[in-house]
Amino acid sequence: MRKTVIAGNWKMYKDLKDTEELLQGVKAQAASAPSFVTVIVCPPFTSLQLAGTLLRGSAVKLGAQNMSEHDEGAFTGEISWKMLKSTGCEYVILGHSERRQYYGETDAKINLKAKKALASGLLPIICVGETLKEREGGITEQVVATQVKGVLDGISASDMERVIVAYEPVWAIGTGKVATPAQAQEVHAQIRGLVAKLYSQSIADKIVIQYGGSVKPDNAAELLAQPDIDGALVGGACLKADSFAGIFKSGMQK
Ligand code: PGA
Repeated sequence: MRKTVIAGNWKMYKDLKDTEELLQGVKAQAASAPSFVTVIVCPPFTSLQLAGTLLRGSAVKLGAQNMSEHDEGAFTGEISWKMLKSTGCEYVILGHSERRQYYGETDAKINLKAKKALASGLLPIICVGETLKEREGGITEQVVATQVKGVLDGISASDMERVIVAYEPVWAIGTGKVATPAQAQEVHAQIRGLVAKLYSQSIADKIVIQYGGSVKPDNAAELLAQPDIDGALVGGACLKADSFAGIFKSGMQK
């Protein structure tokens, strides 16, 4: 049975005061979330330490939004796995489309980050997804397959069981244009099929594939009801405790 994994990507929102306020609300709501749902918050780096302290002993897990592929060194502005782990982080989002689009992250770089995260014991949430132009050009499957193969290159079968893949069509992120449940399910099934080919059917059956892109409390249930949609990566709607809770309470067990 796969768990439902709902992660909130706070992006570049929330200072320390806002972090405290939002987490009080999320913690309170998560206490009554179904037990098969894993709730993760991914605040900005500056809030991780505070979040780690506030979430200790609660049901809410902590994740980061990015991580360096290096262990340490002269990499100004970067954050290492060790730093993340020292705050209580267990998860890290890698290769978000905003990282790809604005900071030039490639599949090869995301692959290095994923390997580093796995080697250090962090659980990577690796994002893939096509642009509007690619969807309209009828090459969604091809684009997503290239990304999946690229980001997973050289990752062993035992490590793969710990990977979460987030399918996030770029055209649906922050636009209010959610993929229909059928559109999302189609790509999720393709990703799971590809993982079965690259690894095995049993690994494909085990891994969590999240959908991301304009997930809201009023569309979460129908997305999560799809057989291959095992969770959500939520942006805008995770910035208020009530709307985030509306999503993680609509989870279904697969
Ligand atoms: P959104 O963002 O929910 O605001 O569309 C999703 C994401 O970027 O992960």
